[in-house]
Amino acid sequence: MELATEKEPTGKVGKERDQVHVFAPATVANLVCGFDILGLALDEPGDEVIMKRSDEPGVRLLKITGDDGRLPLDPSKNTVSACVQMLLKHLNREEVGVEIELHKHMPIGSGLGSSAASTVAGLFAINQLLGQPLTKGDLLPFAMKGEELACGHGHADNVAPSLLGGITLIKSYDPLEVIPLPVPDSLYCSVVFPHVDVPTRAARQMIRAKIELKDAVVQWGNIAGLISGLFMGDYGLIGRSMEDVLIEPVRAILIPEFYEMRKTAMEVGALGFGISGSGPSVFAFSNNRQTAAHITEKIVQHLRSKEIDSNGYVSSINQHGPREL
Ligand code: HSE
Repeated sequence: MELATEKEPTGKVGKERDQVHVFAPATVANLVCGFDILGLALDEPGDEVIMKRSDEPGVRLLKITGDDGRLPLDPSKNTVSACVQMLLKHLNREEVGVEIELHKHMPIGSGLGSSAASTVAGLFAINQLLGQPLTKGDLLPFAMKGEELACGHGHADNVAPSLLGGITLIKSYDPLEVIPLPVPDSLYCSVVFPHVDVPTRAARQMIRAKIELKDAVVQWGNIAGLISGLFMGDYGLIGRSMEDVLIEPVRAILIPEFYEMRKTAMEVGALGFGISGSGPSVFAFSNNRQTAAHITEKIVQHLRSKEIDSNGYVSSINQHGPREL
């Protein structure tokens, strides 16, 4: 995997450890116009993995909390354990035994990269446990396998920012090339998860396979505009580029009050607004924390007035990705 700023692996492996406890962040994928190619990491929410070495070889998933019993404990079916198994095989370390606890602190099927955060936490944990034989960039293809297992498609726009932090561009999938993008100092994210279920698998199936050239031209302009805005720190340009003529019109149907939420966000100062990943979460950018907090509050209030429960978050862009706790 090519990563523009990452150093070559040193080949040196640090000290192996008996236990690690890690956090990996939630993500906002697509960033409105960049379907499957753009994403960013949030400071919160995120998932935690506690990984302990055991004498018995193999990967065991001891416990999952925060999933309402929805995720499989079978190590070959759960994305966290399955990816850890894959990594051990790749490293020729199948004699290693680990026991995993997964603590989910974000909703499943929310569009916040729930499966990605869990998988990244698991892969980061095993790499730390083994003394960091791989770089974070090396872990990315394994995390993409986890996405394939979770939703049938190995997109990287959640796992890349969760793993690498910041805002990432997937310049190409074959060969895999990821470009870290600059994060303007005062960029904040408001995120709201309305309590309705929109599985990524279903939200991908409804997208049209063919697009019209005139729409593609608008989309290309917006992607280029958004990336230019990030490089120039031009918040106005970032906002004007947050338009999606391809995917959003189709997916918005699955999200209650989508256009009302947009109106609310824009009225109180959002730079731009859209679906987070495949939804139903929505997000807005703004250029200060106070406005971001106000946007989240107003959207949550609006949903409450329509008797829809939701979780609201306010976050700067997480520049680091996973970390040890
Ligand atoms: N790019 C993916 C999609 C992200 O929109 O389906 C899923 O979170």
